[in-house]
Amino acid sequence: GTAQIGVTGLAVMGRNLARNFARHGYTVAVHNRSYAKTQSLIEEAGHEGTFVPSESMADFVASLERPRKVVVMVKAGGPTDAVIEELVPLLEEGDIVIDAGNAHFPDTVRREKALRAKGLHFVGTGVSGGEEGALNGPSIMPGGTAESYQWLGPILEDISAKVDGVPCCTYVGPDGAGHFVKMVHNGIEYADMQLIAEAYDLIRQATGASAAEIGTTFEQWNAGDLESFLIEITADVLQHVDAETGNAFVDVVLDQAEQKGTGRWTVQNGLDLGVPITGIAEATFARALSGSVPQREAGRAALTAAAEPWAVADKEAFVEDVRLALYASKVVAYSQGFDQIAAASAENDWKIDRGAMARIWRGGCIIRARFLNRITEAYERNPELPLLLADPYFADAVAQGVAAWRRIVAAAATHGVPVPAFSSSLAYYDGVRAERLPAALIQAQRDFFGAHTYRRVDKDGTFHTEWSGDRTESEV
Ligand code: 6PG
Repeated sequence: GTAQIGVTGLAVMGRNLARNFARHGYTVAVHNRSYAKTQSLIEEAGHEGTFVPSESMADFVASLERPRKVVVMVKAGGPTDAVIEELVPLLEEGDIVIDAGNAHFPDTVRREKALRAKGLHFVGTGVSGGEEGALNGPSIMPGGTAESYQWLGPILEDISAKVDGVPCCTYVGPDGAGHFVKMVHNGIEYADMQLIAEAYDLIRQATGASAAEIGTTFEQWNAGDLESFLIEITADVLQHVDAETGNAFVDVVLDQAEQKGTGRWTVQNGLDLGVPITGIAEATFARALSGSVPQREAGRAALTAAAEPWAVADKEAFVEDVRLALYASKVVAYSQGFDQIAAASAENDWKIDRGAMARIWRGGCIIRARFLNRITEAYERNPELPLLLADPYFADAVAQGVAAWRRIVAAAATHGVPVPAFSSSLAYYDGVRAERLPAALIQAQRDFFGAHTYRRVDKDGTFHTEWSGDRTESEV
C-alpha cells in the first residue's frame, strides 16, 4: 500500500479529518460502511489532494503503507468496538489504530490492552474543535504508547491548529490518558459555557439591557483577558435576530440544555477521585435542572415568594463587576479541572504534563483562549503546582476581582437570580483558603453516631470518644 494514513467512518468529522490530511499532502486511504459516502467525499473533495477510496475494509487496509495508521471516526461505544473487531484481523504487528471519537476513557484503557496483546498500537485520541476544527486544524490529544507517537506525532502535529507556530497536539500519556484529557476539556467547556450564560443572565436581569446590547459587551470583553472562542461566539449569538419573529434569537430557543455525556462522565470521575470539580458539576446539574420540565412547572406555580426587583443604578460598574466575577469563577473552574487531571495522572501513572495540556488547548479546541497561555506559564514556573489558583499570577488576578465577585453573588441571591457556577466557585475559593473548616464538626458527628474516629490537631494518632458512656477519649 501507498497511503500514509487511513480514515474509516466518513460522517462529517471523519470526512473533514481526511480532507485535512489530504490538504497537508498526505495520501489518504478512505473507507466507510456504505460506499456512497466514500464516493461523495471523492466527488466533492477529490481535487484537494490524493485519496485512495476502498469499498471493503480489506482493500482499505491493503492500501496503507506499514506500519499502518488507521483513524477510526465512528460513534463512541458499540460502533467503535464493531469497527475495531472488523479491522484487527486484517492488521499486522506494529500497526496503529487511532480512535479519534469521544470515547469514554475506561473503554480506551480496555481496547488498548486488548490490541497491545495482539502486537498492535491503540491510540485513543481526543480531537476538539468541531467540524470546522477537524477541517482546518483541531486540538489533538493522543494517548497510547510513546512508540506509536513517534510514527503518528508528526502527522497529527502537521494537521493540528497552530498558535505562534506551535502545534496544538502533543503526546498526552499511556492508554486512556488522551481521552481522559479530552473528557476534562469537555467538562471545562460545560463550566465555561455555564459561567458565560450566568454572566449574560445577570446583566440582562439587573440592567434590562437587550440581548444584542449584551452581545456588544461580550465583544468588548473579547478584546481583554477574557478573549476566547466561547466569548466570541456568544457575542455573535446574542446579536443574531430570528428571521421568523424578528426577536432576539436567544429568546426563541427553548431553555432546556442538552448534553451528549462527556460532562456527566467528568463529574462521575471527579466523584470517584474525590476531586471537588464544583464548577463542572454545577454546570452539568444546571443543564439537568433546565431540562427538569415537570419540576420547573411545579416550582413556577408554587414557589412564588417574590425577591426584590432588580434595577442597578450604575450599569457600567455592574457590568465590570460581572466581568471580574466571570474571570475569577473561570480561574476556579480551570483550577479544579487541572486538579482532576493531576489526580487521575497520579492514580494511573500517566505522567501528564498539565502545562503542555494548556498549551495544546490554546488553539483549535472549543475552550481555546488567551488565558491558557497564563496556565502554561504557571506550570512552567512550578510543574508540581498543587493549586492553579495559588499561582502568583492567578492569585493576584483573582484578588483584584474578589470584591466584585462577592458583590455579584450577594446581589444575585438578594434578587433571586440563580448563579450556581458563580456562587459555588466563590464558595470553593473561600473553602480552599480557609484557616479552619467545619469539617472538624463533621468528624465529631461521625465519631458520635458511628464510632468512625477522628484525628486531633495537637497530637498524632486516631481517637474515639465514648459518646454514650462517660465520654472518655481513647486512642484506637
Ligand atoms: C469539541 C466539543 C465536541 C462536542 C461537545 C458537545 O471539543 O469539539 O467538545 O466534542 O461538540 O462534546 O457536547 P454536549 O453535546 O455534551 O454539549
